[in-house]
Amino acid sequence: MKNRKFSASLLAVAATCCFPSLLILRVVVQGVEYAGAQVIPQAIHEVVPRDHVADHLVDNAAAAAAFEAIVPVLRHPRCMNCHSKGDFPRQGDDSHRHTMQIRRGPDGHGANAVRCSTCHSDHTLPGLHMPPGAPDWHLPSPAMPMIWEGLTDPQLCELLKDPPQNGHRTPAQIVEHMHTPLVLWGWTPGEGRTAIPTPQPEFLAKVQEWAAKGAACPLAASARMVSRHR
Ligand code: HEC
Ligand code: HEC
Repeated sequence: MKNRKFSASLLAVAATCCFPSLLILRVVVQGVEYAGAQVIPQAIHEVVPRDHVADHLVDNAAAAAAFEAIVPVLRHPRCMNCHSKGDFPRQGDDSHRHTMQIRRGPDGHGANAVRCSTCHSDHTLPGLHMPPGAPDWHLPSPAMPMIWEGLTDPQLCELLKDPPQNGHRTPAQIVEHMHTPLVLWGWTPGEGRTAIPTPQPEFLAKVQEWAAKGAACPLAASARMVSRHR
């Protein structure tokens, strides 16, 4: 009886004096949890499906660093001219809009009469202002446009890992795609266009390392700040 009274009055005290501070504490904890929610999935859980990478090979920090190493390639105009916003490809080191009203079209291969293949073939033609080329030269389709422009590094990484946005590829298949002639074209783009400066073997090795170590993404700057304060 006495005990019950005691705990009842304790509760009353808690309710009047401590509860507000408990509430504040709770809000603070929730705030941390909320901010942390961005950290935890990326840092710990968001690795490729386990069937691709054995547990002992997963190294999130190394994978994220490998991804950062390939970002300058991904953001190079040789890649961005097909991975930018808008329903048209771009041209040149300044990524100006493709001349001659070229459009993405319903399937990424151009609008009706002016298909990419009208001018672009499976190889780059010699000479200044001649059309570059590689097998299957076209834009991603409007249904899955693979637009990298405007994304932060972590967002770009997440897009590359997201099957509904990346052409239904696993990280291993992204590595494969990086070996296709269309991607490798960026190192031999033809006269008047700057080749990608990162050595090609180094780029391919970093892509491979990213996938092999679990394909973790770099943390968002805000998430990094939160984890530093803990
Ligand atoms: C001529 C246009 C063109 C150029 C130039 C180009 N791409 Fe792409 N890219 C595409 C198309 C089209 C697809 C979709 C292919 C598919 O799903 O079959 C694609 C898809 C991708 C994908 C997989 C989807 C995604 O966004 O995750 C990656 C990765 C990629 N490209 C990397 C590159 C890199 C790296 C470069 C530069 C070195 C580059 N691309 C240059 C047209 C281009
Ligand atoms: C009427 C001919 C023609 C058609 C059709 C055409 N292009 Fe081009 N394209 C060119 C020419 C010519 C160049 C080179 C321009 C230069 O170097 O000044 C070029 C350059 C490009 C470049 C620039 C590469 C770079 O990094 O500088 C991209 C990307 C490109 N075309 C994509 C496409 C895509 C995708 C399609 C179809 C949706 C397409 N083009 C349709 C003629 C064409």
